[in-house]
Amino acid sequence: MSVMILKGCICWSLNPDQLETVENGFLVVENGLVEGVYRELPEKFRTLPVTDYTDKLILPGMTDLHIHAPQFPYRGLGMDLELLAWLEAYAFPEEAKYADIEYADRAYEIFTEHLLHSETTRASIFATLHVPATLLLMDKLEKTGLITYVGKVNMDRNSPEILTESSAQKSAKATEQWIRQVRERGYQRTKPILTPRFTPSCSDELMYRLRDLQLQYDLPLQSHLSENRGEVAWVKELCPDTSFYGEAYEQFGLFGGDHPCIMAHCVYSSEEEEELMKKNGVFIAHSPESNMNVASGIAPISRYLDHGLKVGLATDVAGGSHESMFRAMQHALQASKLRWRLVDETIRPLTFERAFYIATMGGGEFFGKVGSFMPGYAFDALVMDDANLKHPQPLTVRERLERLIYLADRTNLQAKYADGKKILG
Ligand code: GUN
Ligand code: FE
Repeated sequence: MSVMILKGCICWSLNPDQLETVENGFLVVENGLVEGVYRELPEKFRTLPVTDYTDKLILPGMTDLHIHAPQFPYRGLGMDLELLAWLEAYAFPEEAKYADIEYADRAYEIFTEHLLHSETTRASIFATLHVPATLLLMDKLEKTGLITYVGKVNMDRNSPEILTESSAQKSAKATEQWIRQVRERGYQRTKPILTPRFTPSCSDELMYRLRDLQLQYDLPLQSHLSENRGEVAWVKELCPDTSFYGEAYEQFGLFGGDHPCIMAHCVYSSEEEEELMKKNGVFIAHSPESNMNVASGIAPISRYLDHGLKVGLATDVAGGSHESMFRAMQHALQASKLRWRLVDETIRPLTFERAFYIATMGGGEFFGKVGSFMPGYAFDALVMDDANLKHPQPLTVRERLERLIYLADRTNLQAKYADGKKILG
């Protein structure tokens, strides 16, 4: 049996409302799983070596539940348009470049390097519709040691010609070839996820075919849902027989239930949509910065948590400008306060505990027992050194954690572990 023991200031969520901290305690990991956190090391472990991170903070790794790898080159650019115009002006032309494998190689090298040095240990990632570039991205991610789902994107309608698959059949066929090549490559840490971009860019026939592939290959699925008013109105026009957006996926069996499902955004989900997401165990990928940048709005995350829905946090680069999950936490907290003040005072703002929970355990659950240091959880961790963030008096571990979320940059990240393995530091 392999045992690893780390000493440091340990922080982790028990649930959305409870955060535990232990100052200079011991975290014991057995065969890649958390065995326990202790203030004093139990007798039976005392002869074993300890990795000494005294006075450093040790947090669960974070899960970015929704990010677009090919959009990384234009993060921070083109923040002047609403979603649908933004897709046409910026996202689609950039994604079209990934037909060129050399461009993809350069761009995905930068993306994976940034992700490795971020607070993210796991992520669910959109690629583009191009199979060779998507496989290249997966090769690069596998080398980092990060744990990811990656989706070859499907789109066969309402998109520019340079970024449209010419038929549902061809899109499904390319997807199946991609799935088979992924299997042949035998990745340990990089998995495929079906990725119909969103209802406007996928025909009914394509959705049926993706459902067949889901059943045949037992795959999870990710997409976008109820993000922006213009988009929601368009889906109503495209799907006149549905009474809410989620039904446009549900009618094909692509809305959770028998297979795991992530829906990004859910800013404008109706009560019916919320109920169906709860019933089907759909994960909501909350992307607060993106929702501000492309003028979508603010999702009622506290309401979703109060109602017991599954919520994870996401950066949604390049709707979001940055891959940092700490920044995503700040944006989630700030946006929830504005929503409470300006939109609906019956939905209370997010607490720090809840923001930390959705960044760690909430999204981590999509990968299994991930995102906490409770016994049995996969050992994903960040070691943060905050010594440069000087303060005139001693702070509690909880205060140091809160401050780190707002003040840290990549130089504060000293080491990173994913699924029991050290991948950085
Ligand atoms: N909806 C469909 N495609 C996209 C995308 O690339 N980004 C965002 N934010 N929303 C989308
Ligand atoms: Fe997105």
